[in-house]
Amino acid sequence: MLIAFEGGEGSGKGTQICLLQEVLESKGLKVLSIIEPGGTEVGKAIRNILLDRKDLDLLGITEAFLFSASRAQQVRTVTRPALEEGKIVLSDRSFYSTYAYQGYGRKQPISILKKMTELAVGETKPDLVFLLDLPPEIGLARKKSQNQINRLDAEAMEFHQRVRAGYLTLAKKDAKKWRVIDAAKPPEQIHSEILFALEPVLFPN
Ligand code: TYD
Repeated sequence: MLIAFEGGEGSGKGTQICLLQEVLESKGLKVLSIIEPGGTEVGKAIRNILLDRKDLDLLGITEAFLFSASRAQQVRTVTRPALEEGKIVLSDRSFYSTYAYQGYGRKQPISILKKMTELAVGETKPDLVFLLDLPPEIGLARKKSQNQINRLDAEAMEFHQRVRAGYLTLAKKDAKKWRVIDAAKPPEQIHSEILFALEPVLFPN
């Protein structure tokens, strides 16, 4: 099973993935956590271009190709093998980030991003998506206080607002797959909500 965590900057995806991995492993389940972009050697090199190279004047479409390229490599070399071994894969971001950031944020046509995604991931799509929803002002303030501002974080507030609204639109369109969680709540409470939502999926009956 592939479970993706999505959300804007500083929404606490990483913390939740850590907490969840611990619980699932304590129940004897095999879990792999992955991160996008990254996860492979080429993915790390692409990540560096995307997040740190403020000098390159990347176009929205180029950004989308690079995120998709990192994803194509990771899906084939990391994600699919883990799923085939029966592991639960917890993914910090997925192609839905491309729809939210490059689609709604950078205004690239979603139809093009969907084609790109088909080529990158094929049938390997999340079974469930948790959206950790948070006003961008709060998330960005969290990141600033940790001194972790990357090239995309540095975009205007309107960009981050479009990303948030985009995520909420995606979640609404596919409510069966998405669970929207209020990420302003304390981490322990968010963790309980995630476990509660996963219970019927992981342990039916
Ligand atoms: P990262 O430092 O991993 O941030 P976060 O902890 O918020 O996930 O940076 C990833 C950045 O890349 C983040 O700003 C979201 C952005 N991104 C896209 O724009 N498109 C994508 O397809 C992905 C996977 C990430």
